Amino acid sequence: MKLAPIQIGPVTIDCPIVLAPMTGVTDMPFRTIVRRFGSGLNVTEMIASQAMIRETRQSLQKCEWHASEEPVSMQLAGCTPYEMGEAAKLNEDRRGGDYRHSIWAVR
Ligand SMILES: Cc1cc2nc3c(=O)[nH]c(=O)nc-3n(C[C@H](O)[C@H](O)[C@H](O)COP(=O)(O)O)c2cc1C
Repeated sequence: MKLAPIQIGPVTIDCPIVLAPMTGVTDMPFRTIVRRFGSGLNVTEMIASQAMIRETRQSLQKCEWHASEEPVSMQLAGCTPYEMGEAAKLNEDRRGGDYRHSIWAVR
């Protein structure tokens, strides 16, 4: 059975099977295995916007992904729109403004 792709803005998810966000579980090794089994979209672990702005070691580790995983959805959590926006912008900048493959899941 062929499942129809899904479209999120400019990003096409060819296989509409999405890895649920799971803090403490969905680290990069786990996600790359799930992708090998055919997931269409992976979600990072939850990243605290404040920690992202401070560029803590843990937040930098959590926001990494392997090219084979793209498209990836990054899960940013925060208390204010300002800090969440800053954290999202920082990530865009770190990737040289190339966010063709990333979907920002801001909650
Ligand atoms: C260990 C664990 C961690 C989770 N972490 C997150 C999370 O970081 N963000 C989120 O939105 N949901 C999180 N969830 C919720 C899941 O993504 C999912 O919505 C929930 O398990 C219900 O899915 P189900 O109806 O298929 O059981 C987590 C669930 C589990 C079991």
